[in-house]
This record gives sequence, C-alpha cells and structure tokens, in this order.
Amino acid sequence: MEINQQKLSKLGFTEDTFTETVTFFLINDDKKYVMALGIKRRNSYLYARIFRGSKIYSVIVDNKNLKLLCRVCISRDPLAFYYSIFRKNILLKCYNELRCIKRFCDAYIDAILDNLKIKDEAIEIFLKPIDIKILKRYPKGFNRASAAIIEALIYYTKMPFVNEDEKKRALLKIDMCRETVYRSSENPIYRKIIDEIIKRFHILI
Ligand SMILES: Cc1cc2nc3c(=O)[nH]c(=O)nc-3n(C[C@H](O)[C@H](O)[C@H](O)COP(=O)(O)O)c2cc1C
Repeated sequence: MEINQQKLSKLGFTEDTFTETVTFFLINDDKKYVMALGIKRRNSYLYARIFRGSKIYSVIVDNKNLKLLCRVCISRDPLAFYYSIFRKNILLKCYNELRCIKRFCDAYIDAILDNLKIKDEAIEIFLKPIDIKILKRYPKGFNRASAAIIEALIYYTKMPFVNEDEKKRALLKIDMCRETVYRSSENPIYRKIIDEIIKRFHILI
C-alpha cells in the first residue's frame, strides 16, 4: 500500500505538532515492546524522539543490525496510555489480536524503521509507513478527563529526568489534572487512574 502525506494528514499527523500515540515495537522479529510516543509527520514518513532512559533507547543503541517494525496505535483512550506506562503486558498481548487492539486503537499504522540518528539526549527515528488499518469509523467527541489523564502521565514519565524545581511545578500541574478529571467526569475508572498516577508520583518525589 502506497502511503502518502495526505493519508497521514487525514489521521491527524502534521509536521508541526506531536500526535500522542501508543506505539508497539517488534525488534528483530522477536521481542515486543510498547510505549507512549509523540509522533510528527515528515513528508510521507513519521518522526519521533525516543529519550534516553526508556528501555527501547538502550535496545536500539546496543543493536547493530537492528530490524525494527512499529505499530503506531492512534487513540484518545486514556486507558490505552495508562496501560502503555503501567500495564504494558496487557497491551503487548494485543499486538497480534485484532479484536483486542480494536478495544484501544481507532486505527493503526504499520511502519518500518527507515533511518535513525543517535543523539545524547534522544534517538530520532524516521519510520516508513507500510500499511494503515482503520478500526473504528465512528467519531468520538473530546473530553477533558481523557486529556488530563494523558497530561498527568506525561508529567509522571518525565519525573526521573527533571530537577527539584520542575518536580515541584509538576506536582501542582498533576494536582490540577486530578481536579479536571474529577470536575469533568464521574467515570470511576478515570478517577481511579488519576489517583493511582498521583500515588505513584508521590513515591517518585
Ligand atoms: C502521552 C505520552 C507521550 C510520550 N511521548 C514520549 C516520546 O515522544 N518519547 C519518549 O521517549 N517518551 C515519551 N513518553 C514517555 C514514555 O512513554 C515512557 O517513559 C515509557 O513508557 C518508558 O517505558 P520503559 O519504562 O519501559 O522504558 C511519553 C509518555 C506519555 C504518557
């Protein structure tokens, strides 16, 4: 399947804004891995930065003859992002199971690693899309609770890499995320997730 820029743009990928995704990696046809990953479009390619500190950073740096396939899951579901950080196994089981992946992803793009640049802070990867699968055709409206949970997860995952001042600021921000979740949603799963993020956050500071 020829995947051009228009097809990627239609899925929301632009050259100026990161689209937050849940991305699966298949390493040398063997090991699987999943993480939340911000992705931009670069012409008809996808571009992402994998920061030092994540497991996949070392896997890529240590692997000379790396073959890397990615399945980029497009989702607004805060549960998908929550699992990608704290319950990776649940998502990894979905990799080859369409029914399961459909629970979490509106669509996915299969892509192959085309090029990479290893830098000190991060690895820049360029992915060549090879296939797109649209799994859900009915649109979903925006809700603040999902956005606040995803935002809180971003603050949480940045914690090991920030200084004390930034930690204090993150604490305020993450409390605001909790307030947004509680104000905008009565969904007990969303409330449980934001409370768990806060609990884990306090363990890190
Ligand atoms: C919405 C969201 C977007 C993220 N985007 C990136 C990213 O673009 N690059 C990155 O290296 N980490 C990103 N992270 C953090 C990683 O997903 C997180 O550190 C990763 O799960 C670490 O996995 P590991 O502990 O197995 O190494 C993001 C986290 C969230 C919640």
